[in-house]
Amino acid sequence: MLTQSIYSLTLYSLICSRAAHAAPSAKPAKHRNLIFMVSDGFGIAGETMARGYVQTTNNYPLEWASVLDDLLVGTSRTRSSDSLVTDSAAGATAFSCAQKTYNGAIGVSHDRKPCGTVLEAAKQAGYLTGLVSTARITHATPGSFAAHVVHRDMEDLIAQHMISYNSSLTPAPTVDLMFGGGRCFFAPETPNPAAGNPKTSCRSDQLDLWQFAQTKYGYSTISTRKQFDDLKAGDKKLPMLGLFTDSHMAYEIDRDPADEPSLTEMTQKALNMLHTASTVTHGNGTACAPGFFIMIEGARIDMAAHDNDPASHLHDIIEYWNAVAAVRKFIDTHPDTLMIGTSDHETGGLTIGYDPEYVWYPNVLTPVRNSAEVICSQIRPLSKDHGKLVTAVTTKVLPKQLGIINATHEEINNIVDGAGGSAKACKHAVGHVVSDRARLGWTTGGHTGVDVGLYAYGAGSSTIRGNKDNTHVGQLLADFLDVKPESITPLLAHQNTVQEGFDENLVDMKAGKSVSV
Ligand SMILES: *[C@@H]1O[C@H](CO)[C@@H](O)[C@H](O)[C@H]1NC(C)=O
Ligand SMILES: *[C@@H]1O[C@H](CO)[C@@H](O)[C@H](O)[C@H]1NC(C)=O
Ligand SMILES: *[C@@H]1O[C@H](CO)[C@@H](O)[C@H](O)[C@H]1NC(C)=O
Ligand SMILES: [Zn+2]
Repeated sequence: MLTQSIYSLTLYSLICSRAAHAAPSAKPAKHRNLIFMVSDGFGIAGETMARGYVQTTNNYPLEWASVLDDLLVGTSRTRSSDSLVTDSAAGATAFSCAQKTYNGAIGVSHDRKPCGTVLEAAKQAGYLTGLVSTARITHATPGSFAAHVVHRDMEDLIAQHMISYNSSLTPAPTVDLMFGGGRCFFAPETPNPAAGNPKTSCRSDQLDLWQFAQTKYGYSTISTRKQFDDLKAGDKKLPMLGLFTDSHMAYEIDRDPADEPSLTEMTQKALNMLHTASTVTHGNGTACAPGFFIMIEGARIDMAAHDNDPASHLHDIIEYWNAVAAVRKFIDTHPDTLMIGTSDHETGGLTIGYDPEYVWYPNVLTPVRNSAEVICSQIRPLSKDHGKLVTAVTTKVLPKQLGIINATHEEINNIVDGAGGSAKACKHAVGHVVSDRARLGWTTGGHTGVDVGLYAYGAGSSTIRGNKDNTHVGQLLADFLDVKPESITPLLAHQNTVQEGFDENLVDMKAGKSVSV
C-alpha cells in the first residue's frame, strides 16, 4: 500500500539530500520518473500458469486478469550477440546500454569495452537512481546497470563498481539507492562485524566496501528487517545501501517476513524515498532532481525455473505481480511516471499439460511449503545415511513440505536418488515430482530463446506496442529520460573491467557460467 510518504517533506524542505546535491546543474527537464521492471526468467507460460493457479484456487471468473495481463503491450526478443539463447548478463546489458553483447557480459560491449548505461546517463543528467533486486545486488541484472566487467562471475569487482569505488564518473556515487541481497561481496575477506559490518565475506581481498561506502560517499548502510522498517522521517538519507542477506534473498515461498522485506515492500519504500528526495527543493524552489530512474528485478523467478520448481516459480511470480500493482498505484498518483516491464529471457521451457490427457492440476501446488532449494539443503547432507534419508523423505519432505500423502515408490526413490546426486539433480528430482503431478513440463534447466512479454503503464506508455528487440527496450528507457547512454561511454574508457586474479579459463563464456567450481 503506497500511502502518503512517511518521509516527511518538512524535514527535507531546506536541503536536498546529499545524493541529489552532488548532481551537476540538471538541465531544465520536465519532471519525470522511470520505473523499469525486470521479471528474470519469466515467460508467457509462467504467466498462464500463475493466472490459472490463482483463478482456479480462488474460483475467480473466466475473465479475471492479473495486473500484468492488464498492462501487456507486446513482446520482446531476447537473443544476444553471440547466441540465439541469451543469459541474464547480455540480456540486462541490452536494456542498460541499448546494445547487443555476448553472454556473460556485464555493461560491456561485444568487443569487451565498457558501455555507458541508462542509469549512469540518468545520474549525469541529475536524476536520482535506484536498483532493487531479490538476488545479490552484484548479480547479472542489477550489475549490468552500474558495473562494467567482462564476466558476470567477477562479483568482487562488480561490487566495487556498484558503489563507485575508483570510479571515473562524476558525480559519484552513481547509484543513490540499492535494496537487495548480497552483502557478502561488500565485506573484506576477514570480516569486521564489530564495526557493524557484514559478518560473512565472499570476497577474495581485504577491501571493506561497506565501510568505504559510508566514509567516502556517506551511504546509509542497513542490513536488517528492523532497520528497513525503521526508515522514516528522514533520519536516514540517500545514498543508501540496504542489503538484507549475505547471498540471494529467500524465495517468496520460504521467506520469513520477520527477517527479510518482500520485493513489494522494497519497491514501495524505494519509490517513496526516491520520489521524496527528488521533489524536495533547494532553498530557491528548484527541485533537487528532475525525477528518478529505478530498475526493480524479480530475480528468483528465474532461479526457480532453473530448478524446475513450479511452486517457487509461482510464488515469486505472484510476488512480482504485487510489486507491479504497487508500481501501478504509484503511477496513478504520479502521472509523470512511466513503467516499462519485461523479462531478459524465459527459463525452463515451462509448458502446461502433456500426454496423455488435456489437463493440468493447479491444486497440486497449493500445499507446497518450501522451495526445492531449501528441501535439498536439508536432505542432501543425509545422503550418507540411507535410512535417515528415506525417513526424512517419507515423513517430512513428501507429506509436510510438498503436501503429498500418497507418494508412490517411484516418487520416493526419485527424491532419494536425487538427494545423493548434485544440488541440481536433487532440486530437479523434487521439482519434477510436483510438476508431474500437476502435469507441468520443463524442457531444460537453463534458458530458452523464446520471446517474452512487454508491459507498460503511465506517461508515454500508449505509444509502446508490438514486438521489440531487447536493445529497442533499452532505447525506450533512454528516450523517455531524454538521456544518451553512449555519451557516458568515453568517460569509462579506462575503467578496470577484469577482476584481479580471476581465471577466465575457468569460465565458459558462451554459457555465461563457471565450468568448474
Ligand atoms: C537554486 O539553487 C541550486 C542549489 O544552490 C542551484 O544549483 C540552482 O541553480 C538554483 N536555481 C535557481 C533558479 O536559482
Ligand atoms: C493421490 O491422492 C490424490 C488426491 O486424492 C489423487 O488425485 C491422486 O491421483 C493420488 N495419487 C496417487 C499416485 O495415488
Ligand atoms: C583504479 O582505476 C584505474 C583505471 O581507471 C586502474 O588503473 C587502477 O588499477 C584502479 N585502482 C584500483 C585500486 O582498483
Ligand atoms: Zn537464469
